[in-house]
Amino acid sequence: MKKSKLLFNHFPKKQLKISSVFLKRWIFDVLSKEGYSLSCIVYNFTDDEHLLQINRQFLNHHDYTDIITFDYSSNRAIEGEIFISTERVIDNARNNAVSVEEEFLRVIIHGILHLCGYRDKTKKEQSIIRQKENEYIQYFFNHINPKSMKKKKSDSKKTFSYRPESLMMSYGYQPELSVGAIKCPIYQTSTFVFQTAEEGKAFFELAYGQREKKPKEEVGLIYSRLNNPDIEILEDRLTLWDEAEAAAVFESGMAAISTVFFELLQPGDVFLYSAPLYGGTEHFINHVLNKFNIRGFQFNHHHKEKDIIQIIQQQNLKDKLKLIYIETPSNPSNTLIDIEMCRKIADYFSTKNNKIVVAVDNTYLGPLWQHPVKHGADLVVYSATKYIGGHSDLIAGACVGRSDLIKRIKTLRSFLGNMAGPWTGWLLLRSLETLKVRMEQQAQNAIKIAQYLNTHPKIEKVLYLGLLDKKDPQYKIYKKQSHSPGAMLSFYIKGNEKAAFKFLNNLKLIHLAVSLGSTESLAEHPATMTHASVPYEEKILYGITDNMIRLSVGIENVDDLIEDIKEALEKI
Ligand SMILES: Cc1ncc(COP(=O)(O)O)c(C=O)c1O
Repeated sequence: MKKSKLLFNHFPKKQLKISSVFLKRWIFDVLSKEGYSLSCIVYNFTDDEHLLQINRQFLNHHDYTDIITFDYSSNRAIEGEIFISTERVIDNARNNAVSVEEEFLRVIIHGILHLCGYRDKTKKEQSIIRQKENEYIQYFFNHINPKSMKKKKSDSKKTFSYRPESLMMSYGYQPELSVGAIKCPIYQTSTFVFQTAEEGKAFFELAYGQREKKPKEEVGLIYSRLNNPDIEILEDRLTLWDEAEAAAVFESGMAAISTVFFELLQPGDVFLYSAPLYGGTEHFINHVLNKFNIRGFQFNHHHKEKDIIQIIQQQNLKDKLKLIYIETPSNPSNTLIDIEMCRKIADYFSTKNNKIVVAVDNTYLGPLWQHPVKHGADLVVYSATKYIGGHSDLIAGACVGRSDLIKRIKTLRSFLGNMAGPWTGWLLLRSLETLKVRMEQQAQNAIKIAQYLNTHPKIEKVLYLGLLDKKDPQYKIYKKQSHSPGAMLSFYIKGNEKAAFKFLNNLKLIHLAVSLGSTESLAEHPATMTHASVPYEEKILYGITDNMIRLSVGIENVDDLIEDIKEALEKI
């Protein structure tokens, strides 16, 4: 099959600050909407004098014009040559009081419409072609050029006042580009076809950071390890909950976390981290990063700002500090770290050439109940396996935050190859639609279960944000940075490991499994399961004892859950 060609000669880059990639996509769409295919179109941008010459020589006309079209099409395969006077387009823009870009779009699409058989001799023909031009220019601004689309959205208060839960079904997806399908298709493809070699070259230059983006230029689709429509739409939607500038999706929470560490730290660097952390992160810090001579210094919720500053000052490490990494609330103790305090510490040590990054693992409260960016975090990481996925049927991770950092993180992701696949991306898009209703139901159930456990004679203590004492300094942090006590609770059974195991083994409705944030309730034993690799002294320090149970509350009927807990406790 003959390859279709669309070429621009002497493209007026200075005046027309729209990437030719968008223009090409637009022209292809217009042709297919008009029922034609592209064989070969060559645009020649030239000056008035040259256009007049062509007009005289080939058409025996003597007027100045802005465009001349030569039509060599056969049947519905469009072939032609279009000459445009750059000078005249700029003049017309001034005379018609429209932007130069809009006038260029008008004349570019005018040429295409001519090739599709539209004429402009009579008044009626002129009005029809004008109407078509307007329709397609609108289409360009609404659907083809994402930058101008964003501009339009931020200009329009109405779109931006929609809450994330209202946008989860539509944001970033245009049904018109996918045969009207209301849901985004699964782009189960490894690679994407380039229209031209020049386009492929331009995409790679941007993807590999070989040059800066031109105004309004976007990285095109290349290869699914680098980008894929399902993942891009998902990333756009994930930014909404946290009001973050950008997002990157990974094949697991640990992939997101390890990529953040590797991008921000080099051998010799140090970082501060809160404890306790999820066992996998703790293992990565102490058994992987240390192999690269990257050292972490631990602090916890008892440390005040000055104590944490001292950890670094005492060791004279201020020049080597690059990152403050925290998990709040912590898994499994539900202790809180003040995000604003971490920002202050980062700013205290930051210099002109060393801006210390604050990263927060927000898995425990998920994107609904805590927004670390608003409290000064640069990056927020998630195990998307948890609330974001929410159905215990996938493994994924995400990082949202400052666009300059996300850009770096995405570049490393391309080379580590730990990008989520399209199927996972699609499942997450589906999950996000119900994120809010799921999480709200989970929290409502958790509050009732925490209250039940709190008065149960066989329970020593319940660790749940909703039960914090108002005099506890943690309460102040909770009120400042969290919107809900969440759906994760830990509790101590009176007894030892045997009693804890007996309880777990007798649960019927609640599943005995690690992970959290899903529709079904899950219970586990942190000391021997999720936090098994945490050193014994640290387990004791952070209360990860043999009689501790961690419960992730789901969306089941809360009375059924309480009945299940009651019966299992009776068996001890
Ligand atoms: C707080 C927290 N962060 C990160 C992770 C790691 O996520 P993943 O299992 O998706 O790699 C987990 C997993 O349990 C977690 O609980």
